[in-house]
Amino acid sequence: MSVSIPPPKCLKKPLTVPHRLMFGPGPSNVPARILQAGANPVIGHMHEETFEIMSDIKSGIQYMFQTRNIMTLAVSGTGHTAMECAIFNAVEAGESVLTAVNGIWGERAAEMAERIGARVNTIVSPPGGYFTNAEIEQALSKYSPVVFFLAHGESSTGVLHPLDGIGELCHKYDCLFLVDSVASIGGVPLYMDEQGIDILYTGSQKVLNAPPGTAPISFSERACQKIFHRKTKPISFFLDLNWLANYWGCDGKPSRIYHHTGPVNAFYSLRESLAILAEESLENSWKRHEKVAEYFQAGLESMGLKLFVKERKARLPTVTTIVAPHGYNWKEITNYIMKTHNIEISGGLGPSIGLVLRVGLMGCNSSKTNVDKVLAALKDALKHCHKSKV
Ligand code: GLV
Repeated sequence: MSVSIPPPKCLKKPLTVPHRLMFGPGPSNVPARILQAGANPVIGHMHEETFEIMSDIKSGIQYMFQTRNIMTLAVSGTGHTAMECAIFNAVEAGESVLTAVNGIWGERAAEMAERIGARVNTIVSPPGGYFTNAEIEQALSKYSPVVFFLAHGESSTGVLHPLDGIGELCHKYDCLFLVDSVASIGGVPLYMDEQGIDILYTGSQKVLNAPPGTAPISFSERACQKIFHRKTKPISFFLDLNWLANYWGCDGKPSRIYHHTGPVNAFYSLRESLAILAEESLENSWKRHEKVAEYFQAGLESMGLKLFVKERKARLPTVTTIVAPHGYNWKEITNYIMKTHNIEISGGLGPSIGLVLRVGLMGCNSSKTNVDKVLAALKDALKHCHKSKV
């Protein structure tokens, strides 16, 4: 045998990556301090020092989620991995699952649950809307699900879903309350324990400003009871909570057994991003995101643009959705802004495609200076992009 595929010429060129202002719905910009943390030397994923870093991460997640759950860890992967981790562990084939669909994340959760053979029902609201507790209770009583999924921050539509009272409702119907906080955590108040959330997850690449690739997740005692008394093994070995709990030192066992090779450098970055959040404090971070979002919304309205989410209190401060300006091709606007201003903003996603422009100002990106940059770029784009006569 001989090597017949030559070394690729493209790999002879040095790697070049542009600097961009990442003002889409994520990933957001990663500050130098977090990048440098990730550039520390690789050590073993089973070394004592790595376990200590993982333990610090656990504490940071408990603070960020406002939970005392022992079963708190970070999955190796993005928010989707955590979503699958939650569903694959908490649900068995044939069980009933209810998902609230007011954007793409409810659709995705429903699809994941369907793939493992769950009986999936949905409550659906048009993009931009959300559900009342009465509507949720009606569906819980009708479908008797074992898990109810809700996105706290629907990044595809810019809706911040109210959470109060839903945990209690779920527990009244003997159901676990599963919440996606990928686009919201750190930027918006959320109290996992007090709000009765049983499974909560997020991603590293939004408010946390860490590179994509780790996903904090936490399970309540109630969730653990169900998961550790399953009749069948979860479909995924990689995401099996029995294994993850041991790797993250959450199962009280004296030693850890090799499961998978944790992305140690991503752990360093995640730890640093949690340290930054702890230094600022949750309350200050929530306040800053709220103030910056209000400033942004006022600026957009003064330009004559319309906010997609009508109700002020239902607007997600981390990801703002703007009604796609009439007569323009949204893609031309986002391309123009990228090319001319080196800024990423985005169009809609899933059910909001064609309806909105989305601007994410998350973590260190949430500042009035950055709002001014986006507003200037939008003004310029609306002047220069082609407007049809329709
Ligand atoms: C991804 O999270 C997105 O909202 O585009």
